[in-house]
Amino acid sequence: MIAIYPGSFDPITLGHLDLIQRGSRLFEGVIVAVLRNPNKMPLFSVQQRQEQIRLSTKHLPNVEVDSFDGLTVNYAQMQQAQVLLRGLRAVSDFEVELQMAHTNKTLSTQIETVFLATSNEYSFLSSSVVKEIARFGGSIDHLVPPHVALDIYQCYAHQQTVSNPIKTEATQNLRSLPTETPMETFQEWEV
Ligand code: PNS
Repeated sequence: MIAIYPGSFDPITLGHLDLIQRGSRLFEGVIVAVLRNPNKMPLFSVQQRQEQIRLSTKHLPNVEVDSFDGLTVNYAQMQQAQVLLRGLRAVSDFEVELQMAHTNKTLSTQIETVFLATSNEYSFLSSSVVKEIARFGGSIDHLVPPHVALDIYQCYAHQQTVSNPIKTEATQNLRSLPTETPMETFQEWEV
């Protein structure tokens, strides 16, 4: 049975990765599918996010990475997948996720949504939390894979040099990192 794990993944976190790893043990194959959403201004382009996920999951042979637009159930049908995999961190997730699962069921009776409870240590974690911590100079090394942390620190270092001359201890460390990041990367990091 093939499962689709759809999401924004802007960027992938250790919580996402935990879910992908556990999903890859339950299903024959897992396709991590990044939504191409024209209504959102992401920190990373779809291509960058796919690359970040590929690097993070390269040790999992039955995991593929792709992107899609439109309805998730249509994409799942196109991939001949039977399951949408989603994580539940808290009751607040449950309300949103249940509504989404019910909506998807009205669109396709063939596709089942399977929820996995997020591992305890990641129950607070989201891509937004990661971006907020990094934006204010905190360490995110314990929240995302190392190469993703570097990508985010690059954005932050760039923002600091452009908009904020005050250097903290954290930003001094970041200054040694390379700063060649495409402009599209900085869209969300406005002053
Ligand atoms: O990581 P996210 O942002 O929580 O993922 C949300 C996602 C991509 C799973 C959801 O927004 C989605 O499935 N969007 C595609 C459009 C769709 O199928 N809508 C109907 C279900 S509400």
